[in-house]
Amino acid sequence: MNDFVFQNTTKVYFGKNQLGHLGEELSRFGRNVLLAYGGGSIKRIGLYDKVMAELAKAGMTVFELPGVEPNPRHTTVNKGAAICKKEGVDVVLAVGGGSTIDACKAIAATAKYDGDDSWDLVSGKASVSESLPLVAILTLAATGSEMDGGCVISNVETNEKNGYFPPDANPRASFLDPQNTFTVSAYQTASGSADIMSHIFDVAYFSRKDQMDMLLRVQEEVLKTVVKYAPVAVKDGSNYEARANLMWASSWALNGFLYEGFIQDTVCHSMEHELSAFYNITHGHGLAILTPRWLSYVLDENTAPRIKRFGENVLGIDPSLPLMEGAKAAIAALEKFFFETLGLKSRLSDLGIDDSKFAVMAKKACSFTGGKLDSFTVIQPNDVEAIYRMCL
Ligand code: NZQ
Ligand code: ZN
Repeated sequence: MNDFVFQNTTKVYFGKNQLGHLGEELSRFGRNVLLAYGGGSIKRIGLYDKVMAELAKAGMTVFELPGVEPNPRHTTVNKGAAICKKEGVDVVLAVGGGSTIDACKAIAATAKYDGDDSWDLVSGKASVSESLPLVAILTLAATGSEMDGGCVISNVETNEKNGYFPPDANPRASFLDPQNTFTVSAYQTASGSADIMSHIFDVAYFSRKDQMDMLLRVQEEVLKTVVKYAPVAVKDGSNYEARANLMWASSWALNGFLYEGFIQDTVCHSMEHELSAFYNITHGHGLAILTPRWLSYVLDENTAPRIKRFGENVLGIDPSLPLMEGAKAAIAALEKFFFETLGLKSRLSDLGIDDSKFAVMAKKACSFTGGKLDSFTVIQPNDVEAIYRMCL
């Protein structure tokens, strides 16, 4: 068990009647706000008007960055940072899913950078010592970006998608109203739910290292919560209880609490980021396709006990099954959950992906972590390529 320091600096306003606090949270940083959002969902659900009314009430001057794309691009980040510098923006407000919040974290850092290309920061070529403050209004339960300090930015010119941890990037406040997720499509709900589960799998649960039993148990409870409520939200998007449980599970899966003192390579995320870098697919869907195949690939006498435990404690697999049989039943049940219950397509070929880039993607997936991915087992580029092939 490792020593650890736990701190999460994001203040969360959760529930139906919290937006009235937006003005007070923003105005503590100044009057000029950059409002960033995606392709228009916030206007369709009426949230844009509500936010603008709160900003007007607080006397804020608003500059807008619409059109943040899924898998946000560094060129969009550059546009937002340029607005911040030109207009003297004091605080950035992200309204949307993980892509919008991620783009805003990179904008907030690039606004403090002497250069104008955010890729310098995202690629590690340059650094900044501070970021503008960020406030978020979450509209899609998935990434945990609403309560963590990381972001993932794409460079479509070079087919790169990099994780980046700007200084002090946790949102200063996040507004989590489950009603804002009622309109998330069944497909995005399913993909987002797979992402929440994958954060727990990748960051801590599927590991060969020891960890605190309490944390393992909480990880299982959060996983069970997703297994219970994702199918409800897929069928009935306006179910408040289901949306609330998914939203809070999203935040807690990646806010640090579930993996205190624990560091390992996030193997399925590393493999998936190459898929979305090259093919611009939905992050959570890629994870759903990869995860059961990866588990099958690494299944052996050493990994089987944890996989079997997952099956028993999270998916209700019969505990009396022999070790290997129980572990295989767990993987089969996870596939059933993603591909039948949640209705996600099960193969990369369903998403128009062939094997032409597998070798280069496999090499890149391992390139950030010393040429290998070390978590449940250690895998190398040839293993990653084999796992991609299992997903075809
Ligand atoms: O762009 P708009 O019009 O808003 O539509 C979005 C988008 O098309 C739509 N949407 C969002 N809220 C909605 C809604 N549609 C209807 N009603 C609503 N209330 O959903 C689509 C997907 O949105 P996006 O923000 O891309 O999804 P998500 O939240 O899954 O974010 C994915 C991005 O986050 C990164 C991923 O790699 C990907 O780039 N990640 C960020 C992490 C982090 N910061 O810690 C960790 C994750 O592992 C992940 O890598
Ligand atoms: Zn993720």
